[in-house]
Amino acid sequence: MIGTHIPKAMAGAVLRVDLDAIQKNYRALIDHLDGVPAAAVVKADGYGLGAERVGPALAAAGCRGFFVAHLAEGIALRAALPDTEIHILNGLLPDSLYAYREHLLVPVLGSLGDLAHWRSFCGDIPLPCDIHVDTGMLRLGLPPDELDVLANAPDRLTGLNVRFVMSHLASAEEPESDQNPRQLAAFSRARKILPMGQACFANSSGIFLGPDYHFDMTRPGVAIYGANPTPGQPNPMMPSVTLKGRIAQVRHATAGETVGYNATYRVDNKALIATVPVGYADGYLRSLSGVASGMIDGIMVPLVGRVSMDLITFDVSAVPETKRQPGQWIELLGPNITVDSLAAAAGTISYEILTNLGRRYHRVYTGEPK
Ligand SMILES: Cc1ncc(COP(=O)(O)O)c(C=O)c1O
Repeated sequence: MIGTHIPKAMAGAVLRVDLDAIQKNYRALIDHLDGVPAAAVVKADGYGLGAERVGPALAAAGCRGFFVAHLAEGIALRAALPDTEIHILNGLLPDSLYAYREHLLVPVLGSLGDLAHWRSFCGDIPLPCDIHVDTGMLRLGLPPDELDVLANAPDRLTGLNVRFVMSHLASAEEPESDQNPRQLAAFSRARKILPMGQACFANSSGIFLGPDYHFDMTRPGVAIYGANPTPGQPNPMMPSVTLKGRIAQVRHATAGETVGYNATYRVDNKALIATVPVGYADGYLRSLSGVASGMIDGIMVPLVGRVSMDLITFDVSAVPETKRQPGQWIELLGPNITVDSLAAAAGTISYEILTNLGRRYHRVYTGEPK
């Protein structure tokens, strides 16, 4: 993660990750779960925030299990978390079986082929594994016909040391969706065929669907990082990310002049245009062109013109002169411009904003693990 090593004096923007807020969010989920534990999802480098910093902070907050997507992510995380369970969501890589054993990583098996490979690899020493059942996403996991095979041939499970039997909700953030109860019923049926280990079902939003969805273990990700797991309702989580860009130049524009690529913004009267060295190459999505805002000293400033690869431009005419000089910081993401609101402006989801947070920012972590 190169951003950690870019000195503030050289960076165009500073990304601050509040580990204390992340710990509070984790504990808030645990309180809500009323005794059911939560394993944290820290794939995609801890949703863009730095898994090797977020992981130990969560472990210090009591988290005992972690999920990543890729085997390589698990190997990297193992260095930061020597003593916790790390599960690999994306299934088994048959050519790399030794790596799961070497780094004590738990594969999530998602097909009869995966089960057979893992059993024969483990031989007489049953290493832990999870089994993923597809309850309606058609993505990963045992499909219904393979589950039927297991119902009729339970010997195919002999010798497996199953930690979690899991599935994943497709529409948990839509509490009214009838896909939720359908997946719940399918998962409960699957548990009858696969009663071993612990049942692990709910993601962040799933936790807020109620106790029926909690089972033995939950698997939240995005809520830990502060995004709202209950869209349309007040956000029960705390923001954990602040991104501030530094004004590089301020230009006086006169009526009729245009800003940026393809002249998509024309100045009406006269305006002051501030350029900030952050762009779509830093994860400030191009779809934010003309629809996002920044904030300077409590004043919202509209983003004008296209988002370029390395630059964005704001109309800072409303900002007092002393606060719109080169070097002035402008909030791009934080308490006033939340990850959910920026995502909505970009026409995307908070996950995409977080996981795209750039590597060219100076990164600061506050609130060390305790
Ligand atoms: C299989 C699986 N479980 C859990 C999660 C965590 O979901 P969320 O970030 O919505 O809590 C994800 C995220 O994409 C996932 O793919």
